[in-house]
Amino acid sequence: MKPKVYVTRLIPAVALKKLGESCDYRIWEGELAIPRDAVLREVPEVDGLISLLTDKIDGPVMDAAPRLRVISNMAVGFDNVDVPEATKRKIMVCNTPGVLTETTADFAFALLLAAARRVVEGERVVRARKWKTWGPMILLGQDVHHATLGIIGLGRIGAEVAKRGKGFDMKVVYYDTIRRSDLEEQLGVEFRDLKSLLADSDFVTIHCPLLPQTHHLIGEEQFKLMKNTAILVNSARGPIVDSKALYNALRNRQIAYAALDVTEPEPIPLDDPLLTLDNIVIAPHIASASVATRTKMAMMAVDNLLAGLKGERPPHIVNPEVLAK
Ligand code: DGY
Repeated sequence: MKPKVYVTRLIPAVALKKLGESCDYRIWEGELAIPRDAVLREVPEVDGLISLLTDKIDGPVMDAAPRLRVISNMAVGFDNVDVPEATKRKIMVCNTPGVLTETTADFAFALLLAAARRVVEGERVVRARKWKTWGPMILLGQDVHHATLGIIGLGRIGAEVAKRGKGFDMKVVYYDTIRRSDLEEQLGVEFRDLKSLLADSDFVTIHCPLLPQTHHLIGEEQFKLMKNTAILVNSARGPIVDSKALYNALRNRQIAYAALDVTEPEPIPLDDPLLTLDNIVIAPHIASASVATRTKMAMMAVDNLLAGLKGERPPHIVNPEVLAK
């Protein structure tokens, strides 16, 4: 009998085809995230789950799925999965690192450029039929070239953003909990503690995972350290930034601008005060959204799942301790 798998949203067809060759799968075909009651209803018989960052996969979901052996999250981040609860139940948890690195770095840089050069504001002017003339004082932004770029989290994505910064002749500094001397030399980047990074940077871009230690890593105190001309970019996870403090910092011009691909919560509520500000650009969590990358992520999620279901070590398992005999 083929293993049973549940997929919590439509993913690229090529990945579903591969999954269907060795598993019986069902899929949530709704456009929005699967509601919790539907997850609980769908999982009792499943051996494997392909989940997304919009799905909270916690202890109660695992309790409802006594046969579950693999949770394959189609994302590099896995803060939506309660990994300790999975480990307790000997359920493998997998993610999709690597394949989205450059695509996500491209987008972080797109946000940085859009904020610095006020691209979205300019577009709004044109569409509002308010473009009346070329003007020496209209929509002046900030130069990216030769500015200082501060990267929080020099993992795979952070390192790719550093390369892009170097391509724009920026001075690149970084903060991480682990100092990366190898990358410092290779990429020409300098280590700073968080306070000096915030004080020195013209652009601060976040690339660390969401962990209890990074929750609201950037809040009121941190905004006070930043330059009034600074631009904050977040394409990691919304809760790393305290959004109330961000609102105050932007409104009081404590910092100049923010560009977000992630918010807390997601989607951002329509009455969120951030949406009343002009000095912010917000994208709907699309940093990895290229055709090629989403296809690779889906294939990787399927490959992880199939390996785990076959009793092999999945190529990208985040809790390998469950494999120990
Ligand atoms: C991830 O993979 O964690 C991104 O946020 C979505 O691609």
